[in-house]
Amino acid sequence: MGWDAVIGSAGSEDIAKGIANSLGIGYASMEIIKFKDGEFKVRLGHGFGGKNLIFVHRLFPDPSQKMLELIISCRAMKNENAHVHAVLPYMSYARQDKEFVNGEVVTLRVLAQVLREAGVDEITTVDIHSAEGLKLFDMKVNNRSAMPVLAQYAKSLKLDNVLVASPDYGGIERSREFAREIDAEAVAFEKFRDRNTGEISMNDIDIDASDKNVFVIDDMIATGGSIAKVSTLLKKHGAKKVIAIATHGLLVDNAEERILGAGADEIITTNTILNPHSKVDIAPLLYESLKKEA
Ligand code: R5P
Repeated sequence: MGWDAVIGSAGSEDIAKGIANSLGIGYASMEIIKFKDGEFKVRLGHGFGGKNLIFVHRLFPDPSQKMLELIISCRAMKNENAHVHAVLPYMSYARQDKEFVNGEVVTLRVLAQVLREAGVDEITTVDIHSAEGLKLFDMKVNNRSAMPVLAQYAKSLKLDNVLVASPDYGGIERSREFAREIDAEAVAFEKFRDRNTGEISMNDIDIDASDKNVFVIDDMIATGGSIAKVSTLLKKHGAKKVIAIATHGLLVDNAEERILGAGADEIITTNTILNPHSKVDIAPLLYESLKKEA
């Protein structure tokens, strides 16, 4: 198809410009005008009529506001008859991929429908929370794995005697992928979440982690509760070092203190969300993916 331009929203310029430079096409920003009452409107520049556009937009922090900005921005592009490819490094609301408790809404499905209606033709994202979530979209979603680039970073630490651990069974495939990349064994803990209080509990497993350097792999770190629980158990089993690795570092509610306080030695995330631990740049992965789509 061939891309014509990359448009970045405020807070996503670094990734958007990286992609535009790599693809050798123009970069423009989406103007978002905020009003004192909290409302906003978007204004698309000129010359985008009928073009093939890539819109790069981080959906965090402030995921609900950012989702609305995405919807309105994509409509602005579609009003110009553009082909709209949304690059969403972190897909917010992806954990709401089922009705966990009666009366809840599968919010991700609703958002997928709204995005379609707003004019999104295709999406590229990174490590969406679940494969089930992908099925809720009535459009092509390219879900790229950050495990190879995170594993590359992990290898650069040159640690020996390594083990890979997943905090829950849901993340075992992701952890196995990471483990294959660094040629290590992968184990999984069993995590339970109280759907009313949000409290998590974890079953211990029979492993010998003595003197091992353990990489704990997750798609995201929010409050850090999951990683903290695993870190405590791993240290109890004699782990030398625990390194928390996640694609998306939301790091809310003192997550960093919680994780390091539980015995983890380091936190590593990509820059799908900017935080002090986003050590791995995701732009090259997105660029490679978009190049294949061109
Ligand atoms: C849940 O299943 C996810 O994969 C993460 O494990 C979870 O969202 C992390 O949340 P927190 O950091 O609050 O434990």
